[in-house]
Amino acid sequence: MHMQITWPDLPAAQQPPWPDPVALDSVMAELATLPPLVFAGECDQLRERLADAALGNAFVLMGGDCAETFEANNADSIRARLKTVLQMSVILTYAASLPVIKVGRVAGQYFKPRSKLTEVRDGVELTSYFGDAVNALPFDEASRVPDPTRLLRTYHASTAALNLVRAFTQGGYADLRQVHAWNQDFVRDSVAGQRYEAVAGDIDRALAFMRAIGADADSLERVEFYAAHEALSIHYERALTRIDSRTGLPYDVSGHFLWIGERTRQLDGAHIHFASTIRNPIGVKIGPTASPDDVAQMCEVLNPDRVPGRLTLISRMGAGKVRDALPSIVQKVDSSGIPVVWVCDPMHGNTREAATGHKTRLFDDVVSEVQGFFEVHRNLGTIPGGLHVELTGDDVTECVGGTGGVLEDNLGDRYETACDPRLNREQSLELAFLVADMLMLR
Ligand code: PEP
Ligand code: CO
Repeated sequence: MHMQITWPDLPAAQQPPWPDPVALDSVMAELATLPPLVFAGECDQLRERLADAALGNAFVLMGGDCAETFEANNADSIRARLKTVLQMSVILTYAASLPVIKVGRVAGQYFKPRSKLTEVRDGVELTSYFGDAVNALPFDEASRVPDPTRLLRTYHASTAALNLVRAFTQGGYADLRQVHAWNQDFVRDSVAGQRYEAVAGDIDRALAFMRAIGADADSLERVEFYAAHEALSIHYERALTRIDSRTGLPYDVSGHFLWIGERTRQLDGAHIHFASTIRNPIGVKIGPTASPDDVAQMCEVLNPDRVPGRLTLISRMGAGKVRDALPSIVQKVDSSGIPVVWVCDPMHGNTREAATGHKTRLFDDVVSEVQGFFEVHRNLGTIPGGLHVELTGDDVTECVGGTGGVLEDNLGDRYETACDPRLNREQSLELAFLVADMLMLR
């Protein structure tokens, strides 16, 4: 028997219109009996790592799909995403000599907030796609009805993904001696791929040197990799919140790190209250309309005990706004004395519609927002602690630009996202090289 947590009845934004509350309740009851995906001790460990990032002694890299799908929850796709994050992390670690805390938008990122409850096409109005955890993407009546059994499928898909991630990261695949292997299938004649080979060569030589002097190489075999997703469905997250037997404290065992989105961070809403209850490290997205006072108040609610690593603020201002909107927020939070990790999401403030009708992002805007983020922190003497990006391990054409030269006209070639446009592998590595340069100047 595990202790029940009672939740106050607060307004929860962005909840899908579940048609059958009884069916939803029975799914929640089943979810509540299932084993945890992650353990409290792992969440605590991540919080300690994040505390290092808050002080500038580590850098956080969060990356993965905008919206995971059941279809793409297969070994090839997961491996490709993992590989991209590992390669980015090697680039950053090598350049800046900083440990990189690796966090995937993976094993649970199945929920999407929507600007409109419904979508209209050719006069037909259906429920918007809220992510595979809720309904299906095809535009037909049956696909779009929210189906709570999908929450169970989400749980099972997430356990399978996390199982594979754990196998890859603990079973030798992520061994640093594999730095070349990760690049093998990758276009070696791409600029980023070649640059990566050079770094990998340097690392090989450093490892050979360590072996020669008899240094212990065991620590190279395993990497810590954490799972994160947006805590959007209040039902799913509450059902997976458990009292840890060791500490008697509540943890959301659906993922190590949960974040609250820009659209659900109302101070008096159910999401912020939920986040304040759980002991996991948590994040909140901060957009350009956030007021410094509101953000500071939120920090007080979410981190009243001023625990380092507990709270990450993920700014997503847009390339044109970050330099104006971010400083007053950073100053206000900094002067409150509440420790936070400052992370830059250069994706969500830079979404635009291409002439082809595709939702896209310009690589240059992404880079410019990260640059602005570093500038703001440099000017204020605060710490730029990490990067949060939407990426895939595949050669998709969803974001425009980069040395690989995805043009607006090519967007239709391989546009596969279920939601927002993601950086492809080459764009991801290129961004990592650029951020590595910024980190060295930090
Ligand atoms: C997201 O991260 O996919 C997302 C919806 O972000 P935001 O809440 O910042 O808009
Ligand atoms: Co997104």
